[in-house]
Amino acid sequence: MDNFEHRIPTKIIFGKGTENAVGAEVAKHAKRILLHFGGGSVRTTGLLDRVTASLKAAGVDWVELGGVKPNPRLSLVHEGVRLCKEHRLELVLAVGGGSVIDSSKAIAMGALIDNDVWDFYLGKGAPIAALPVATILTIPAAGSEMSTGTVITKEEGDLKRAVNSELIYPVFSILNPELCFTLPRFQIACGAMDIMAHLMERYFTNVKHVGFTDRLLEATMKTIIAEAPKVMANPKNYDAWAEFMWAGTIAHNNLLNTGRVGDWASHAIEHEISGIYDVAHGAGLAVVFPAWMRYTLRHDVERFVQWAVRVWNVELDVFDPEATARKGIERMEAFYKGLGLAVTLDGLGVAADRIEEMADKCTDGDTQQVGNFVMLGKSDVAAILRLAA
Ligand code: NZQ
Ligand code: ZN
Repeated sequence: MDNFEHRIPTKIIFGKGTENAVGAEVAKHAKRILLHFGGGSVRTTGLLDRVTASLKAAGVDWVELGGVKPNPRLSLVHEGVRLCKEHRLELVLAVGGGSVIDSSKAIAMGALIDNDVWDFYLGKGAPIAALPVATILTIPAAGSEMSTGTVITKEEGDLKRAVNSELIYPVFSILNPELCFTLPRFQIACGAMDIMAHLMERYFTNVKHVGFTDRLLEATMKTIIAEAPKVMANPKNYDAWAEFMWAGTIAHNNLLNTGRVGDWASHAIEHEISGIYDVAHGAGLAVVFPAWMRYTLRHDVERFVQWAVRVWNVELDVFDPEATARKGIERMEAFYKGLGLAVTLDGLGVAADRIEEMADKCTDGDTQQVGNFVMLGKSDVAAILRLAA
């Protein structure tokens, strides 16, 4: 196991009706805030009204900025930064999913600097301060409610890039499984896929003697495999949502990669797909992950076998371990298909006409490798995308 430091400062407030405590919780940090949300679900579900009533009761003033799109755009981040500066706002409250939270984190970093916050996404410098961010999560998927990450798309150039900083861990996140009851089935499936991907990115590691975190990762994967079909069948199943939602947060809050190094190539490759074709992140991952696995399988067949046997209950074929591993990949694909997701680019409705461009962007013109379990250059990324096609 590798050396590590571990600290997660985000307070989690979990359970029924917890969004009604948001005003009192925000008031501990700020008096004037940016209230940031997406394309309309928070209005139709009545959540926004409950949030503003709670803020009002706690004496918190707010400025509203809605309209965050999935694959959140830089132009709206700029608008949020402008509002924060003009009204001297003290906190950004995200009400929504990963896209709203990531946009809020970008605004929080941009509000305290004169330069364009996009510089951080290009790797030009790192933030040294940010406004506090708080969240009310409405879809378990990206894990941004307790992560250091933010992923933003710059419209010109179709460039989707990430920043990681401990400064943007939310100060608190409210998780009420009841808020998931209105999720469309496609979004539920994409969320399940993203959570599984966060677990598998961490699972496929070259670090040895990580049996404890292996077991935690396996347990979390098995939880999603068990609970996702239940919430697909009955989107008002509170108990199944509670398990699913908490597993989704734990999957990406860095606890499960303590002492190990995750891979993350599939995420880097998927970000090129959703950056260009504007598909849902989870849907893109369902296409990339099986292809990545088939491409890297022989790097460590034993690890794939452990995953296939423990997570997917594949019977070990001692004479043909690779066949055991391949069965695991097939069971994973069957699981995604069962949720209604496509496992090829074609099925996703993406014409595989920009594979070279995606491979080029992903590796910065073949100057950088992606991944840790297996380090991939431009030709490897292109080969994986062709496998996915
Ligand atoms: O915009 P509204 O109307 O709210 O609709 C949203 C959106 O269309 C809808 N939705 C959310 N909650 C709902 C709901 N509809 C009905 N009822 C509810 N309760 O769902 C749609 C998708 O929302 P979005 O926020 O885009 O989903 P998700 O949470 O999957 O976020 C995806 C983004 O997160 C990034 C992805 O790349 C993508 O841009 N990621 C962020 C990470 C991080 N910050 O740590 C890590 C991830 O790997 C990921 O890359
Ligand atoms: Zn993800």
